Amino acid sequence: MIKIALIGHGVVGSGVAQLLEEKRESLEQKAGDRLYCAKILDLRDFPHTPYADRFTKDFDEIVSDPTIQIVVEAMGGLHPAYEFVKACLEKGKSVVTSNKELVAEKGAKLLRLAKEKNVNFFFEASVGGGIPIIRPMHLCLAANQIDKIYGILNGTTNFILTKMIKEQMTFQDALLLAQKLGYAEKDPSADVDGVDACRKICILASLAFGKQIYPQEVHTEGISQITLEDVEYAKNAGCALKLIGQAKRLSGEKCSVLVSPAFVPIDNQLSSIDDVFNGVLLKGDATGEVLFYGKGAGKLPTASAVVADIVHIAKSPHTSLSLTWENSDADLVADISKYENAFYYRLRGAISPKKAQKLWGPLTILSRKNQPEDEIAFITGRMPESNAAAIEKEMGEEAEILGKIRILA
Ligand code: HSE
Repeated sequence: MIKIALIGHGVVGSGVAQLLEEKRESLEQKAGDRLYCAKILDLRDFPHTPYADRFTKDFDEIVSDPTIQIVVEAMGGLHPAYEFVKACLEKGKSVVTSNKELVAEKGAKLLRLAKEKNVNFFFEASVGGGIPIIRPMHLCLAANQIDKIYGILNGTTNFILTKMIKEQMTFQDALLLAQKLGYAEKDPSADVDGVDACRKICILASLAFGKQIYPQEVHTEGISQITLEDVEYAKNAGCALKLIGQAKRLSGEKCSVLVSPAFVPIDNQLSSIDDVFNGVLLKGDATGEVLFYGKGAGKLPTASAVVADIVHIAKSPHTSLSLTWENSDADLVADISKYENAFYYRLRGAISPKKAQKLWGPLTILSRKNQPEDEIAFITGRMPESNAAAIEKEMGEEAEILGKIRILA
């Protein structure tokens, strides 16, 4: 029997407990041993669950119990999750987590500690919820150098943008609906400001490039400035509007990592990933493009990924199977001013298409129904971000920038 402890009995933790109970027999077959949930740490009481007798409020009952081999951290947040996970690894327990903030901030340290202690630190559920992505990247794509990752990594913002595109809901109305349906938190900033997507692209980029990429190094924009006018122009340009996390290998040991809304051309597979679904498009140098698609959040999809990690550990309890990436002091992430992109602009002011072309070079001019006379919208050619900023400066007061969004190439 393999004894497991859960830290946190919220959405994910309770889903893990449920799957361990409901699928006990098939999991035993797959893991080669009985997976037994022995303890659950939570400050709340849950008298009506099948595990009611196994709850504790004392972390020490888990960390000091030598019979507990696997600890699932599903409490979220950086502290005390980091201290709890570190203490468990130090005691020689393998840890499974769904906590993207923890992995994005402390991944390298915890991976090193797991290696030292010859145990595992797994986090399949931290990106893409139920989509298998971490292990496929690490193992199934081992023969590849990953050169590019594009991801729709946040279900809440994808739901909001889908409502704006398909039902012409305003951002505010779509956000209220997302909150009503339980997708968005009361304070929705981590989702709508791109923070959650940033943590997830950091994890994927760290895995792809072998060095820890920290969220603080990544230029991150959210979706709260997107308007229905931008959505209409995107449609007329043959694109969908999505919040994209992207990471690319650049020449000279550098990489670009960015989170921002983007016009996604409809022939790109990510353009049709709607509602709360997530999608990740990878490019490996041997295999070419691979698309991962599925539910990026929710109780059972996320718990499914956690339980898969548990089964993997159960099959090899005493070896360190952990994937690795190292801590990095080097400036691996290039400055955003050097990234090359094409841009959509929506301007208000006395600026003619001819004048705009003079400033930005060849443009694709866009139009929409009921377009005011003093509004112009266009897509530029590709240029360094610093050039776009310099042109905006040169334009000065002649026009006001109402919208500026990158085009996914
Ligand atoms: N808030 C996240 C989302 C949950 O909307 O995708 C999963 O990480």
